[in-house]
Amino acid sequence: MQGVKNYINEHQQRFLNELFDLLRIPSVSANPDFKDDVFEAAEFLKTRLEEAGADHVEICPTDGYPIVYGEKIIDPSLPTVLVYGHYDVQPADPYDLWHSPPFEPTIKNEKIYARGSADDKGQMYMHVKAFEFMMRSNQLPCNVKFMIEGEEEVGSGNLGPFCIANKDRLKADIVLISDTSMIANEVPSIDVGLRGLSYIEVEVTGPNRDLHSGVYGGGVANPINILAKMIASMHDENNHITIPGFYDDVIELSASERAAMNEAPFNLDEYKDDLGVKEVWGEKGFTTIERTGIRPTLDVNGIWGGYTGEGSKTVLPSKAFAKISMRLVPNQSSDKITSLFKNHFEKIAPPSVKVVVKPHHGGEPVVTPTDHPAYLAAADAMETTFGKKPIPTRGGGSIPIVALFEKELGLKSVLMGFGLDSDALHSPNEHYGLFNFYKGIETIPYFFENFAARMKKS
Ligand code: BES
Ligand code: MN
Ligand code: MN
Repeated sequence: MQGVKNYINEHQQRFLNELFDLLRIPSVSANPDFKDDVFEAAEFLKTRLEEAGADHVEICPTDGYPIVYGEKIIDPSLPTVLVYGHYDVQPADPYDLWHSPPFEPTIKNEKIYARGSADDKGQMYMHVKAFEFMMRSNQLPCNVKFMIEGEEEVGSGNLGPFCIANKDRLKADIVLISDTSMIANEVPSIDVGLRGLSYIEVEVTGPNRDLHSGVYGGGVANPINILAKMIASMHDENNHITIPGFYDDVIELSASERAAMNEAPFNLDEYKDDLGVKEVWGEKGFTTIERTGIRPTLDVNGIWGGYTGEGSKTVLPSKAFAKISMRLVPNQSSDKITSLFKNHFEKIAPPSVKVVVKPHHGGEPVVTPTDHPAYLAAADAMETTFGKKPIPTRGGGSIPIVALFEKELGLKSVLMGFGLDSDALHSPNEHYGLFNFYKGIETIPYFFENFAARMKKS
């Protein structure tokens, strides 16, 4: 890839300005207040893809937010890379914990601070700029299709149907995604697995109205007390999850696979320091890398009810709520785990309360192959630009659509991410390193070159 570094140097300020313009659009998919902004982000991308040289760029409507599609077919007999990413972002709340406003991108210590800087606007936009470079320098070595969605952060509910309805248009040889992390800038890695997800909301109702906690306290079940106890009972003293059947389908790795996993550089003291915790926590018998990579989890994401305002109000609340997520690993099924949870939750509820379990979105876990020409192309590309072979790792997060690409389109994915776990994804002060942004733009063209070459040979 002749001249990629020069091209980046020459255009670095413009690349950054464009990304900043995208980051200024608060495309929060979870909150309908931002509806117009989400559509605006799709429009923005369409224009940028066209400018970069893509053909047939289209904003494809769905029942939710649109999918931006564009392509460059240089020769139908050549291989095709389908680039997937998302232009929606997580809510920026709580705003007061941000050191600079979430939708006014700011550079501090060589990092771009903004909601979506790493997840996924900054990473997705690297592909647009890498494509621009290959087009302008006449070096695009194979076909490329872009499919950028606006609902990843809310479960990609409309992307599955879109894929099924557009099987022909989406024909490709591999899906390329930059929406994951590396171990460190000096320790490049590629995720070869993602966890699945079951996401559930529960409602616990005690008395039919809020009560005086003195007049009735002690005589009626407090739904918050009950909910807290039910949640606490879902982990045992070894931090195993107590839902019957929860681990039945979990694939246990062999001792040698686990040993290989644990050879990846990981500094427990730095991990604790970074998070401000004295000790880590997790399932007995597993290391932190294993706990976040190959083991399922159950976590409360939010819990509410009763009085949380200023001062004190003596109230015995009528209702308590929680949002609970379970991260799943191969070969667990999201639907099955959701129904195991529901049955268990209803069973452990005492007769003094009523419970309602509402399943939200879910997604299946995946493992991606390390012997696929596309994985090897990505590994070689990173070796070229980082000077080090990337380590295969298992990511703890979820991109539910990856399993669907395989099921509906028969396509494997390569998770060539350039972020870091410490980028504060979904948290206040999300950031993305300038190094990572430009390194991604530099690496992607090598992926294309290597992939086209490897597919020719095979
Ligand atoms: N990009 C993340 C997933 C991710 C981050 C994977 C870092 C590996 C490393 C993605 O945008 C995300 O946040 N997914 C959600 C799932 C979705 C259904 C809301 C998640 O993992 O919580
Ligand atoms: Mn993402
Ligand atoms: Mn995310």
